[in-house]
Amino acid sequence: MTNGEKPTDILKEEHQNVLQKLDALEEVISHLDKKEEILPKLNELTSFFKTDFWIHFTKEEEALFPEIERFIPREGGPIGMMLIEHEDLRNTNKEFQRAADEYLGDSDSAEIKRMIQEYGNHFIGALRQHIDKENNILFMMADMHLDQTQIDKIVKLFHKIESAEEKEGNSGGNDDARLR
Ligand SMILES: [Fe+2]
Repeated sequence: MTNGEKPTDILKEEHQNVLQKLDALEEVISHLDKKEEILPKLNELTSFFKTDFWIHFTKEEEALFPEIERFIPREGGPIGMMLIEHEDLRNTNKEFQRAADEYLGDSDSAEIKRMIQEYGNHFIGALRQHIDKENNILFMMADMHLDQTQIDKIVKLFHKIESAEEKEGNSGGNDDARLR
């Protein structure tokens, strides 16, 4: 039973939250010279993009995309493209996290700050565009084609993925595995 929830609405709401975090991150990494001021916010945001954020990708990749692939083939279609973008975002985030860890440790080098800005801004820009494509192209296609059985299956899987993540505990520790 899914109480009439639509998977695309759930994901769009998550996108909304992510876009706000991206705005905050953009602001914070433009002030790396004011370390003491930005430290708490940077800590919070890097931790979000290190762990919690990826549950959203898992939901798309393991629950929504496979059902869309039943009517649109992966290769040469939007799913193939979204997966390539997910990979790019994972890789950019890894580099961003590496640089941010150094900075949050005790590095104050100009090179580290430059890397945070370079990878951070790439991540922010790419993720904004990616979300826009999902919201306005992929999810519209999904809404047109998914039947109720598929919708129920996807929402059920979302809940499963969430409770599995909760059990694992998202304490924001060292979890490279989660970044895949
Ligand atoms: Fe998404």
